Amino acid sequence: MQIIIITIVSIVALLVALFFLPIGGNRRKNLYTSNDAIQDLNFKKDFLWGTATAAQQVEQLQPSDWSAFVRKTVNEKKHAAQDSGDPHPGHILGLDRYSQDVIEKNSNFDEFMQQDLKAAANMGHNSYRFSFSFSRIFPEAGGKPDKKGIDFYHKILDECEKNNLKPSATIFHFSTPEWFWQSVEGHKGWERPDALEHFGRFIDLLVKEYLPRIDHWCTLNEPMVYLYNGYLTGLFPPNEMRGDVKNVTSVVEALLRAHMIAYDKLHAAAQKLNKQIEVGYTKHTRAFEAYRNWSFFDRLVAKKVEQAFIFDFMDAIDTGIMKISNTKVHKEIPGLKGKTDYVGINYYGRFYVKAPFSNPAKFTILSYDPDDKNEKINNLRWALYPVGFREIINKAVKRYGKPIYILENGTADDSDDDRIRQELLITHLRELALAQKDGADIRGYYHWSLVDNFEWAEGFDARFGLIKVDYEDGFKRTRRPSADIFKKIIEQGLSSTDYLEAVKKYSI
Ligand code: BGC
Repeated sequence: MQIIIITIVSIVALLVALFFLPIGGNRRKNLYTSNDAIQDLNFKKDFLWGTATAAQQVEQLQPSDWSAFVRKTVNEKKHAAQDSGDPHPGHILGLDRYSQDVIEKNSNFDEFMQQDLKAAANMGHNSYRFSFSFSRIFPEAGGKPDKKGIDFYHKILDECEKNNLKPSATIFHFSTPEWFWQSVEGHKGWERPDALEHFGRFIDLLVKEYLPRIDHWCTLNEPMVYLYNGYLTGLFPPNEMRGDVKNVTSVVEALLRAHMIAYDKLHAAAQKLNKQIEVGYTKHTRAFEAYRNWSFFDRLVAKKVEQAFIFDFMDAIDTGIMKISNTKVHKEIPGLKGKTDYVGINYYGRFYVKAPFSNPAKFTILSYDPDDKNEKINNLRWALYPVGFREIINKAVKRYGKPIYILENGTADDSDDDRIRQELLITHLRELALAQKDGADIRGYYHWSLVDNFEWAEGFDARFGLIKVDYEDGFKRTRRPSADIFKKIIEQGLSSTDYLEAVKKYSI
């Protein structure tokens, strides 16, 4: 009898231990790939190097949903932050501290374009990623395309040509024309019955005007960030809080179809021109990790969040089947399967997932660990996590087997001696080179961003530019020290001597 009891107790103890046993060790992973065996690292000769920007963040305000939202928050003085420092839904942080001129002109790229693109070339870049503003080209509902709007992008392309910068163009980067939100049959925006028709007309125009000048296309920027902030948290227009992801299915489907329409139209036209192009999309990625590595629930939920936030959308394009985690949604989208020439990755660090035992579904996400003194945190309280960059690239390669473009990576650092950005560049480019050694076919890296700009609901305080913009002194530009570090790596690779110096300087 005693033996039976002892055996049962031991089995239960073993099961409990197994339940909590951390997969991959008791402690958190190192921030970096180990420093043993530091080596000289080089990138491919035809690698594309540059920065990324988006129309709504750098250009003067156009008649878009975002411009309307900006003006509304200014009129209603909705600038306050939550206690955590994050914006409230329907608010934009700190706009009261910037002049009307700044609010209307953003980084004033319209007037500084020549100077900025020349600076990009001087910083050693050979490419530049920008986005088209749908509202600049089609300011009015059902109206004709605007000639001035069309010319504006030809001007960007002229400057790219002059400065030997290969253009990389993004079609949808979060903002749409204001008229797109007028209700048709009770539906707005992407859910209007004619939404994809309008989007198709926009693509036709882009094809006609710009296809001969552009080889690199990105259809959608970070669809999941758009869906999450636009329809669940209320932070981005249309500022909705639909509560459950299943209530956003129709928007997910519309975006998948928008991607397919753009892919098909661009390729069909390129074929006629006998022109080689690459068309893909880009996803916001983070390393989702357990806050407490010993907690089975933290680990489990972290995996589930990774699948939902990063891979659901990418899997849909890969398989042609839209499945949405935690819902019954499972729908084939005919013609979608495999339609991407590359996988675009935007990488911004680690998110911890904390899931209570009592109710793991009520998990929280932290952008850093307040108890970990070793974390290197930026102005938005996001912590650097370079090793996650190599890991996400390798995961994407394994899952999809496509070439990779890093279409964004960067950090908010407003200081003149931007040490966080300097460290980010050195450590992330090292992980990028190591991922390349692991076998990933990586074709380009775009730093976010060229100049300080409008950081959505975070307003103007979060500074992402290699070039500082002085908003109180006529948008004056000043290059930050990180720009030189980036330049040296572009021109010479990352030598072991430079890396070892950085290890000391930044306590890596
Ligand atoms: C977006 C950019 C944004 C950047 C920094 C990405 O999510 O594509 O528009 O400014 O990250 O937050």
